[in-house]
Order: sequence, then structure tokens, then C-alpha cells
Amino acid sequence: MIKISRFKNAEPNISSVLLFSKKDLKNKILLETFTKEDLQIISESKEKYDFTKQGSHYNFAVCDEQSDEQLRVSGSTIQKFIGDKVEKIQVLGNEKSVLLFLEGLILANYKFTKYLSETNEFKLSEVVLPDEIKSTKVDEIINSCKVVYWTRNLVNEPVSYLTALKLSEEISNAGEEAGFSVTVLNKSQIEALKMGGLLGVNRGSIDPPTFTIAEYKHPKAVNKKPIVLVGKGVVYDTGGLSLKPTPGSMDCMKSDMAGAAAVAGAIYLAALQKLKIHLVVLIPATDNRPGMDAYTPGDILTMHNGSTVEVLNTDAEGRLILADALSYADKYNPEVVIDAATLTGAAVRAIGTHASIIMGNAEDNYFNELEEAGKQVHERVVRFPFWEEYYKEMKSTIADLKNIGGGNAGMITAGKFLEHFVKSPYIHMDVAGPTWLDSPEAYRPKGGTGNGVRLFYQFLKNRTK
Ligand code: BES
Ligand code: ZN
Ligand code: ZN
Repeated sequence: MIKISRFKNAEPNISSVLLFSKKDLKNKILLETFTKEDLQIISESKEKYDFTKQGSHYNFAVCDEQSDEQLRVSGSTIQKFIGDKVEKIQVLGNEKSVLLFLEGLILANYKFTKYLSETNEFKLSEVVLPDEIKSTKVDEIINSCKVVYWTRNLVNEPVSYLTALKLSEEISNAGEEAGFSVTVLNKSQIEALKMGGLLGVNRGSIDPPTFTIAEYKHPKAVNKKPIVLVGKGVVYDTGGLSLKPTPGSMDCMKSDMAGAAAVAGAIYLAALQKLKIHLVVLIPATDNRPGMDAYTPGDILTMHNGSTVEVLNTDAEGRLILADALSYADKYNPEVVIDAATLTGAAVRAIGTHASIIMGNAEDNYFNELEEAGKQVHERVVRFPFWEEYYKEMKSTIADLKNIGGGNAGMITAGKFLEHFVKSPYIHMDVAGPTWLDSPEAYRPKGGTGNGVRLFYQFLKNRTK
């Protein structure tokens, strides 16, 4: 993580980023390296930035008359430029712009290097900020980026390291550090709870499943009933006996716990920031493999709530493990239950990597708040319909439900399947698109993006105001 230090007077001899607006074209430091005419040109250009090089250091002028997201992207653009060249950079400008720029810069300064023989971390390791920038706001960005890094690491870890047990351990460690409680149920406890979905998916695996319960409750929490977040923790999805093809499919299925990582990241960050909120996070976790004892298409599972499910495709496993967690959520009498899951390829085909899909039966205000938070942090969500017609497709003739629908609108039929298991107001979020990238986009790296953490945090934070 980048180190932050402070200055009273800007240092003349290190690389600098000067965030300026057209109003302060008379700024002294700026005018030492750029002429007024230069700055005018920069502020009107498409890129909105330019630089000069003096010896070994750079001076960037970045026009701050840009949207919040463009300022984050500017941070990542300049990180790409200097990440491997300079160790330390100072950023000057008004507080709001500096913070957004800093966020983009830090989010871009991430690499997953654990398995590289020669570590090639970015050279950039320190940002110097003016004293006037409030440290609570800087700390919030540092915590948020730290948790996003943590979440990305979890998604990028292969299943050879990140088994269900390991995922639970990582969450327990985060709980100890940040001050939230974590209980990990083992296989026999999961059996005692009759979680037939989680146990069914786990049958082909050589590793046991886990069910992780994390809880964070601020003594002055604004909500009386907890908000429950549920995350799909399929640490690897081969498809099971309904085996996936490898290219562009099974090869990235270590990311099938990105929903779990996002909600775990959300409680981690909420606790670090001491949000005045009561939050419960539930994570059913296993891999999905075609082992000797694997569950089969045609099997009928009895779930935690007693409902029966006919399995017609073992690759539709996420909904089976989530169903058990969603009915377990009942015991908390939640205000609202929201799940995050890399649930369907249909979601990716519908909107690509640029947003998550939300749907559900909760009051409109929850959807509006998620949309608003999504815009604020640029982790956008799009609401899809949730009509009863889709539910009919999930009915089986020999069990209460079947685990696949008719083929169209697969992200919605999956959501309707899940709704059957929840008694409280409910929102389903399909995060299959934005949690994983095949090539980098601005400050989002290739591989795990950490998407969802900043969205949930902003959503919860807005509720405490
Ligand atoms: N984990 C996948 C969904 C997925 C696909 C996530 C692409 C990320 C990228 C899920 O378990 C799955 O395989 N879903 C099936 C459901 C189908 C069999 C009804 C799908 O989407 O094809
Ligand atoms: Zn699957
Ligand atoms: Zn899956």
C-alpha cells in the first residue's frame, strides 16, 4: 500500500501533480513550470493534462474541471505514466479533486505479485499531500483501497491456495484486525443444519465446505434490524458433471467467489471505518467439481428450509448454496437481505463488465439508494424486472423447484429461484460482469477488480447520514 506523507510547503525537487481549475491560472507553483497559455490549452484539451520533465522529476498539470470519475481516471492515467519511474509524487489542488485523483492513482497502483519469481512491484510507493487535506478523508481512502486490494487478492488466488477453509480463515483474520466477529461452521455443523444445497454441491470435492458468519454491530447503529449481505463463495467452478469448456469459461472460474469477497470486503471496510450500522454477512463456500461422489443432473436435494430442488444442471450451483444461506438469514429478522453472486453468464452477456444487475422485491428506496451509491463510486447497477412469470419456469414436476429455467433471461430466473428462500425484503445482485476483467480498464486491473466493496460501503455509509 502506498505511504502517505504530508507537507506544509510544496517541495520544489520532486515530481508533482498540480490539479488546477481555470480560475486559479495565476497559481504561483503552476506558473513556474507552465505558461498561462499552456494551462488554457490543457484545460480545453480532451486529455485535460500535460507534463514537463525537469531532470529526473515530472510536473503534471491536470485540469480539475472534470467529473468525479474522470478525476479518478486521471489518477490512474498518471499512475500508468510514472508507476515504474518515480518513487514519490506530491499532489496539490483543492481537497475534493486531490482525494478523487488519489483514489484512482492508488487503485491503479495494484499488482498481484505473489507467484512471480522476480517481484516487480510498482516503483511508486509514496504520495505527499498538503497539510490542509483532512486526514479522516485520506484515511478513508487508504482503508477503502487496502480492502479493495485484499478483495482482489482473494479473487486472484487460485483454488490450490484459496479453498473454502482458507477463505473462511482470511475473513476471520480480517475480523480480528478490524473488530468484527467471525464464526466458521464446519461440515458437520452444516450437516446438522441440513444445508442440502451446500452439501450437494460439495459432494464432488475433496475439500470440506464452510459456512462463514460475520457480524459487525456499532453500539449506535442507525438500523434496528440488521442488514444481511450474502455472498456466493464458489472457490472454483468446474461446472461439476455438467463440465464447463476451458477457454474463456472454466479458466477464470477461480473468480466464482467474487461475490463472497465483495461482501466480506464490505464488512471489513465498514468495521475499519466504524460505520454506525448493524451488519451480518453470510458466506456459503465450496468448490464445484466432478468427483467420484459428485451430485448429478437428475438428483433431488432437500434444502435448509425443507424445499426440494431437482438438479438439472450441476453448473447452476451458485443458487443452490445461496438458497441455504438465504433461508438461514431468516433467524436475524433482517431489515433487508442483499446477495452478491457471480451467478450467470446471462448477466455478462446482457451488460458486459460495466455494471452489476440488481432485481428483487424490496421497497424502491433500497434500489434507488444502491443506484445512487453506484453512481457515486462508479460501480454502477442496473435494475431488471422481477415478474412472477419468470418464477413459473423454475417449477419442477417432481420437486418443489428445479435449478434451471427455460434459457431466456437466465439472470432473472436465477433471481426468482433465490427469492423462494428469503422471507425478508430481498435484492439479488448478479456481479458476474464487473468483478473480473480479461484486460485492464483505467484503475481496474486485469483479473479480480474488487468490485462491490466500494459500492456496499457507500450504500451503508449513506444510510448512516
Ligand atoms: N459461475 C457461473 C456463472 C459465470 C459465468 C460467472 C461467467 C462469471 C462468468 C455459474 O455457476 C454458472 O455456471 N451459471 C450457468 C447457469 C446455467 C447452467 C443455468 C450459466 O450462466 O451458464
Ligand atoms: Zn456454475
Ligand atoms: Zn458458479
